[in-house]
Amino acid sequence: MPRQFFVGGNFKMNGVTSTIKSIVSNLNNSKRDPNTEVVVAPPALYLALVRELADPSVGVAAQNVYDKPNGAFTGELSVEQLKDAKIDWAIVGHSERRVLLREDDDFVARKTKAAIDGGLSVILCIGESLEEREATKTIEVVTRQLNAVAKLVSEEQWSKIVIAYEPIWAIGTGKVATTTQAQEVHAAIRKWLGETISAKVADETRILYGGSVSDGNCKDLAKEKDIDGFLVGGASLKPAFVDIINARL
Ligand code: G3P
Repeated sequence: MPRQFFVGGNFKMNGVTSTIKSIVSNLNNSKRDPNTEVVVAPPALYLALVRELADPSVGVAAQNVYDKPNGAFTGELSVEQLKDAKIDWAIVGHSERRVLLREDDDFVARKTKAAIDGGLSVILCIGESLEEREATKTIEVVTRQLNAVAKLVSEEQWSKIVIAYEPIWAIGTGKVATTTQAQEVHAAIRKWLGETISAKVADETRILYGGSVSDGNCKDLAKEKDIDGFLVGGASLKPAFVDIINARL
């Protein structure tokens, strides 16, 4: 079964009401490939606004979610609160949170499990640092990150996960992975899915590439067998985001 192409836009900590409104308006009024699933992730403060303004065909994701249902966790957002705001997606395990906020593999796995148990779909971010790549540890790192999630989620729950492979050395640097580098890791991730979870999950799980994706490089990357879409940072804030959504047109 062909996997539906998927493009996520991670706004990160960027934008205010006026600029986020214009990003959503541009998205609503542009010709988008109907075969591409689109999900945008604004800063938490603007989730309800974007949900209200965005075309219903556009999904909205939180950039993070907590693993506990409620309580004394200042500053956190729960799965229930996101569902209450009609938000159906959450990005989990972004490298900026793994590195800057020291979110370890087990915490990311618990968040993923809690999100899916509570009815959210998850964009699960994995990826290696430059040092780990230079030490030829890329596959070891990404499979370690995936194994932590596999310990908690059931085979069926993988249908609620979209994996985003984001090499840390490519995020925000302009140094996009080559098509060969990206395809090699995506193929290894799909192999891990088949060997660890099931052939069905390996066949059906979308594996996104993220890290300096642009309108200039997305078409070549989109041609790769195991690249099922993108998780886009900086370029998601610009009108060219639509060109990335239409990478397969
Ligand atoms: O989550 C996507 C992000 O990490 C990629 O950022 O700016 O390199 O596209 P960017």
